[in-house]
Amino acid sequence: MHTTDSTSTRLIDRFGRRVNYVRISVTDRCDFRCVYCMSETMTFLPRAEVLSLEEILFVARAFTELGVTKIRLTGGEPLVRKNVLWLAREIGRLPALRELALTTNGTQLEKMASELRAAGVRRVNISLDSLDPERFRRITRVGDLAKVLRGIEAARRAGFDRLKINAVILRHRNDDEVARLTRFAVDRGMDLSFIEEMPLGVIGDHDRAEAYYSSDRIRTDLEREFTLLPTTETTGGPSRYYRVAGTDTRVGFISPHSHNFCGSCNRVRLTPEGRLLLCLGQEFSADLRAVVRGFPGDHDRLKETIVAAMTIKPKGHEFDLSAQPVILRHMNVTGG
Ligand code: GTP
Ligand code: 5AD
Ligand code: SF4
Repeated sequence: MHTTDSTSTRLIDRFGRRVNYVRISVTDRCDFRCVYCMSETMTFLPRAEVLSLEEILFVARAFTELGVTKIRLTGGEPLVRKNVLWLAREIGRLPALRELALTTNGTQLEKMASELRAAGVRRVNISLDSLDPERFRRITRVGDLAKVLRGIEAARRAGFDRLKINAVILRHRNDDEVARLTRFAVDRGMDLSFIEEMPLGVIGDHDRAEAYYSSDRIRTDLEREFTLLPTTETTGGPSRYYRVAGTDTRVGFISPHSHNFCGSCNRVRLTPEGRLLLCLGQEFSADLRAVVRGFPGDHDRLKETIVAAMTIKPKGHEFDLSAQPVILRHMNVTGG
């Protein structure tokens, strides 16, 4: 008889944190070049280094059998990967999965939103740092705001459980838009997260310490126009949420610098080349591609490798805005 030891089907690290959420970066490529994410010239991974969609699915299945209930597809821009809808559909069908979510820059939503919904994606987070077309282009270096706004409308029509806007706020670039972005989300019944920039990779464009704009300042700015009611609601993510009084909108603050949230971290990440990253802000990783390619079809070995990796999940990040980045990989490799 085949018995399952309930402890071996769970992922628990040295600090007692239970991992039930995996963020899968399906590609490091992106049609934007956001100033906080990439340098202007980027070399992307050669195709052979990147996991195939079948390999990603194999890893995703192993995770769900180990107690993971939430998977987020991210990038780079996940929707520029060919056949990503197939992957979404297959992951969406994994029996133990409770939630399939997506983080995107919105450029492909106009044409893909309803198919994503049909594939089983439940929640979508869309990056939007400015509502001014000129500024939007400067921050993304190439982006067309109107196209992203059309994508957001398509997503609203597609009937996802929840849509959320992500805005990285940088001093002198878009710090004066926090109320406008909040109004945008409130008018559309969407949630919104404000994110402090994290020092991942050398980006060359601005001084990160200089551009730092804290969540507390954003909250003070917002309270001039809105009443924010603290809530204990959580999506299992790093956001601290407030409800905008009299609306359906939650405003979240992702504050790795001013309010560390590593103590309740429940996630790990899979990079496009199949590295299992145990923390966004550290290099500890396990090479799952070596297992997937070295022992094709060996589910048990893959699961053992994942379980063993929990022992190297670090306590937390050590971000320091005033120093040269310690983590040289750019955000597009891990998808945030
Ligand atoms: P939900 O809570 O499910 O809505 O997702 P999320 O806010 O975790 O995900 P999203 O992809 O929208 O990411 C928003 C921001 O949170 C990104 O800038 C991520 O880099 C950041 N983030 C997510 N997880 C972590 C984490 O473990 N550590 C740090 N420092 N930042 C994180
Ligand atoms: N710091 C914080 N957030 C970042 N993102 C990309 N790069 C960084 C960074 N260096 C954000 C994107 C997107 C989310 C997945 O991560 O804007 O909303
Ligand atoms: Fe692309 Fe997102 Fe990075 Fe912008 S932040 S360049 S949209 S991966």
